Amino acid sequence: MKTYLVTGGAGFIGSNFVLYMLNKYDDVMIINVDKLTYAGNLENLKSVENNPRYKFYQADICDREAITEIFANHDIDYVVNFAAESHVDRSIANPEIFVETNVLGTVNMLQCAKVAWQTGDDTYKEGVKYLQVSTDEVYGSLGETGYFMETTPLDPHSPYSSSKASADLFVKAFGDTYKFPVNITRCSNNYGPYQFPEKLIPLIMNNTLKHKDLPVYGDGMQIRDWLYVEDHCKAIDMVVRDGVLGEVYNVGGHNERPNIFIVKTIISYIKENVDDTVGEHMIRYVTDRKGHDRRYGIDPQKIKDALGWYPETPFEIGIKKTLKWYLDNKEWVENVTSGEYQKYYDKMYSGKEEL
Ligand code: NAD
Ligand code: TYD
Repeated sequence: MKTYLVTGGAGFIGSNFVLYMLNKYDDVMIINVDKLTYAGNLENLKSVENNPRYKFYQADICDREAITEIFANHDIDYVVNFAAESHVDRSIANPEIFVETNVLGTVNMLQCAKVAWQTGDDTYKEGVKYLQVSTDEVYGSLGETGYFMETTPLDPHSPYSSSKASADLFVKAFGDTYKFPVNITRCSNNYGPYQFPEKLIPLIMNNTLKHKDLPVYGDGMQIRDWLYVEDHCKAIDMVVRDGVLGEVYNVGGHNERPNIFIVKTIISYIKENVDDTVGEHMIRYVTDRKGHDRRYGIDPQKIKDALGWYPETPFEIGIKKTLKWYLDNKEWVENVTSGEYQKYYDKMYSGKEEL
């Protein structure tokens, strides 16, 4: 039995990872540690809440005492640190919380794991590993050609990507200084079930269904390299098991699409399958995001060669699966879009000028 301490397991990718691992393996125990911010939702994990191989703690990754106690309660083999503030727009409005959770929280997780696993000076319990879930946004923005490689220099622009890059540097420092066993994965934009509807795909989906305006930042020609979330979970599983200690692995590739294409794809899917009164007349080109990165694109050759991973789900299939999931789970969307989020959303977009 291998025991994983997963942080942020009630969020979008974290909950997909918890479900993926518990379904795939019989010899895996998952300890999920989540503060349950606006983005954390235990409803995602209803199907496993009574599973004896799953345990949930509500705790902040910055809390030394709470995390130390969790390490004392369980014989942890692997840490997978998903917990983060994850939305670029929020980081522009309020950068401090991104430093607290993404930087200080990561350093706290590293310190607690190091103390729990240490067997001597620079030696640790056999087989343990700390995996930091990072993002391609730490590399900055690409021009029209080229791809991010693991050797691309870090050049983050937003407070979000700067906090993730800082965290990555601390993970590297723990590896370099204390010979602490680490890996970093840097993934492109994910999409799929359970994504909070502040992010582009579920937001456009939700707004189209509700006949609300569809905000497209700037000219809508920014490009993201979209990865179906299950493919990301698979990559993390592979890196935890077989990644070479100290290495960084980029995850993504071959699914680059401009934002406006994504928006039009969602509209036409809903028009065909749900409501023929929706249409492109609902698109509103609004003031661009400050410092908006133009293009992200991953070269996944390293993880392909080293571990045999590749992005299995073509965008055309993944987007249909995702849209179907949101249609089949309207109650989930209703539950997360009521309350705090709705107030935030109204405040964010009521002030945005149409171009
Ligand atoms: P999310 O916002 O959906 O979930 C984040 C989770 O972390 C939530 O459950 C939240 O409650 C929890 N959390 C926040 N602060 C916490 C704290 N201080 N202590 C404990 N828990 C806390 O995010 P996501 O989209 O699932 O992203 C997960 C990770 O993957 C993040 O580290 C993000 O940087 C990275 N990532 C995301 C994407 C993407 O497209 N979503 C792409 C690449 C990398
Ligand atoms: P987002 O889902 O916030 O992810 P990230 O900023 O981490 O890439 O945004 C994806 C792209 O979509 C990004 O270029 C910003 C753009 N976008 C819009 O045009 N309108 C929106 O309402 C949102 C949320 C994003």
